[in-house]
Amino acid sequence: MTVELIPATADHKPDHDEIDISSKAFWALTSEERDKNFALLREIRPVSWQRPVEDAVTPDPDDPGYWALVKHSDIVRVSKDNDTFISGQGVLFDLLPDIFLQMSQSFLAMDAPQHDNLRKLVSSAFTPKQIKRIDDKIKAAAKEIVDDIAGKGSVEFVAECAERLPVRMFGDIFGIPEALRSTVAKAAADVVAWADPEILAGRPADEVQVEACVTLHDVAEELIADRRKNPGEDLMSSLVEAEIDGQKLEDFEIGAFFVLMAVAGTDTTKHTASHTMMAFTEFPAQKDWLREDFDGRINGAIDEFIRYASPVMTFRRTAVRETELGGRRIIPGDKVVMFYPSGNRDSEVFTEPEKFDLSRSPNPHVGFGGGGLHFCLGNQLAKSMLRALFGELLTRIPDFRASDPEYLGSNFMRGVKRMNLQFTPER
Ligand code: HEM
Repeated sequence: MTVELIPATADHKPDHDEIDISSKAFWALTSEERDKNFALLREIRPVSWQRPVEDAVTPDPDDPGYWALVKHSDIVRVSKDNDTFISGQGVLFDLLPDIFLQMSQSFLAMDAPQHDNLRKLVSSAFTPKQIKRIDDKIKAAAKEIVDDIAGKGSVEFVAECAERLPVRMFGDIFGIPEALRSTVAKAAADVVAWADPEILAGRPADEVQVEACVTLHDVAEELIADRRKNPGEDLMSSLVEAEIDGQKLEDFEIGAFFVLMAVAGTDTTKHTASHTMMAFTEFPAQKDWLREDFDGRINGAIDEFIRYASPVMTFRRTAVRETELGGRRIIPGDKVVMFYPSGNRDSEVFTEPEKFDLSRSPNPHVGFGGGGLHFCLGNQLAKSMLRALFGELLTRIPDFRASDPEYLGSNFMRGVKRMNLQFTPER
């Protein structure tokens, strides 16, 4: 089916698309149902003009809407063209309070040169070489976590397993005392829970989010004060010492940095692990295939874990130059939103995209973003954690079956709040 595109002009946009991916109802669908709508859009209107998010946290009556990018090629193009599509005017799909954005986004929502200066301060901690250095620690932590569940036969996977490794590694990297780690994990999860009724529990979303940010800033303050007196080897010590053009970072800047890293570093990997357990349950032959040669196959397999899970669903950019995308004219000020799960199901790039196929090669998924300046800083760390965790799970409790996942209500994070896991207990 082809539908004629109505070109947008500088002062006129087409009507908001009839395939509405901004409605609450759309984001309440299962991801399989959402995928069907994305597939239709990819086919008939790869760049569609959409109304603003329905029931945004802070609605803006002057917001005209955004261009939705659902094709892999457009996501890659926009991600890599950081001169035309900037992040400094916001990167989140939902409309959120300014104070929340200032407290939580740091260099994720900045452009060069500020972005590059801040990212450079931490990037050395996340290089493949550096991650290799902590690989043994990651493996030991994964083993301990699986030691705690392997004899049980039945667990709630998210809390008892998926969440623990990323929280622990994040805690080690920043030097967070043990007693504060669960507070950090809960606050990091609350930061992105603006559309989940259970987590909001009747409170306004902005209140819950700002409270979670304040909790994380308070933890950051505590760490900053401690590291000024007792510098160590951790990342917080480097941030306290770091200078940009001879200037030390302000505490608030370090706090925002800490919120960004806490969310980016914990939730994403946790949700990928849970989705992957579901995928193995649905495609058991893939488990056997991987177990036949775990060391030889795991690296390629992890890319498929990320593609299939696509835990980060949306990020936005704003055009600052006139350009064209998918036959549409984009003018300065236009918002464009990238839908990563859709890019990861694009059949022009992936054969049988709905299949969890660990032998997929090449696998140019956009789960970590489509490239460019903002490409996921923690991708090597995430891969190393998933490699260690699945190395344990697939050897020690290989007959596991995941069931009854309860999903986070979100238009940002494809999250699993709770999920049962059953298996023959290890003897
Ligand atoms: C499976 C796990 C993960 C997924 C799927 C994921 C996904 C993403 C995505 C989609 C982006 C945005 C890319 C863009 O805008 O082009 C991103 C950025 C980022 N990620 Fe990850 N991430 C994961 C794990 C991690 C971890 C473990 C850390 C670190 C501790 C981390 C730190 C970051 C940071 C700091 C950014 C912002 C980079 C920038 O703006 O320059 N991520 N990630």
